Amino acid sequence: MLFIQSKENFEGEFELPGDKSVTHRAVMLNGGAYGEAVITNALMGEDCVSTCRCMRALGAQIDIDGTTLRIKGTPNFRRGMRLDCGNSGTTIRLLTGFAAGKGIDATLVGDASLSARPMNRVAQPLSLLGADIRTTDGHAPVEIYPAPLHGADVELQIASAQVKSAVLLAGVSADGVTSVTEPVKSRDHTERMLAAMGAKICVNGNTVTVERSELSCVDVSVPSDISSAAYFMALGALKGKTLCKNVGINSTRTGILTAFDKLGVKYTLLNKRISGGEETADILVERSPMQAISLTAKDVPAMIDELPLVALMCAYADGESRITGAKELRVKESDRIRTTAELIKNIGGDCEELPDGFIIRGKKKLIGGNVDSYLDHRIAMTAAVGLIASENGGGIARPECCAISFPDFFEKLGVRL
Ligand code: S3P
Repeated sequence: MLFIQSKENFEGEFELPGDKSVTHRAVMLNGGAYGEAVITNALMGEDCVSTCRCMRALGAQIDIDGTTLRIKGTPNFRRGMRLDCGNSGTTIRLLTGFAAGKGIDATLVGDASLSARPMNRVAQPLSLLGADIRTTDGHAPVEIYPAPLHGADVELQIASAQVKSAVLLAGVSADGVTSVTEPVKSRDHTERMLAAMGAKICVNGNTVTVERSELSCVDVSVPSDISSAAYFMALGALKGKTLCKNVGINSTRTGILTAFDKLGVKYTLLNKRISGGEETADILVERSPMQAISLTAKDVPAMIDELPLVALMCAYADGESRITGAKELRVKESDRIRTTAELIKNIGGDCEELPDGFIIRGKKKLIGGNVDSYLDHRIAMTAAVGLIASENGGGIARPECCAISFPDFFEKLGVRL
């Protein structure tokens, strides 16, 4: 159990790790393209290490030097491999589309949490392109068999960047034209990177269209991850003042700022610039009185990974907040509707589960207490924020899982793991 002390004041300037979504894509796309690329500020969290392991197993050459990766793409993929995707939903879902597109037979496996997450959501749309993918009752292990792919128009029922990306990675190697349409736009890092690598790709509203294309390696300078910065931004709002440097502010990812606008959190974007094809800024957040908010399905994709944290902030806001249209949270690394509600209640807050979200009745002060991470990195880090902001602090059981996306999170907080 890791004890987290409450703090009256929390201030500082923070450099955050590289973006998880961008790192996964930089490794996978370059690993299968022509040429060589250098990736800087890559995230070396466990999920991205899983993508590196799988791409190496397929034959890509990846040299890792701190957060700099040198990648040589392979035209000749190893076949019949068993690829271990660890805890990473992005690895297994993107790799399913990638392998189907390249005609690679492979078996994709994952840990207990990943093996409980739905895989038909990628197998089914990929089958429309002619892919032969066999899941285990809708889950991993996932077997991919070589099959000729053809273009198709795919309409997704859920807004999911992982599913959209799987279709695009298959579509870019399929005969003809593939389009994918989602109900609400999700993060668009795959589209951007494919375009930078020479793909014939076009975005029109919530529809992305891609044609069969040869891809050339491209260097990527990875911005810092707004999903990791979010914890330090929340601490600024709750307890003082924080400055998070060089954070990616791609508009498909800045839902946390929409939540801040509604909550009444005071923040400023400084030093805006373009780095590696993505907009970045330094984000200054100051202590602010917060009021209750309402969020619905259209708000969810741009803050999908921040919703546990947003719910926690609502627990410290004035009034009754309502978050709906977020049932995707039930199939993340944990059932994040259940685990977030448990976390908030365990530290003295008032949170009611809805089938697709939460009702949170805010209190100015929460007492603190002991909580579990449920082996979910985002719940562990949300818990740390909740406890620092609480009256008495408390313990987090199984906090090490933060290494999935933010290996030195507790160090940066000034807490020894
Ligand atoms: C991700 C997409 C999101 C997100 C995940 C990363 C990605 O998942 O929750 O952490 O990199 O494409 P879904 O596509 O399941 O919403």
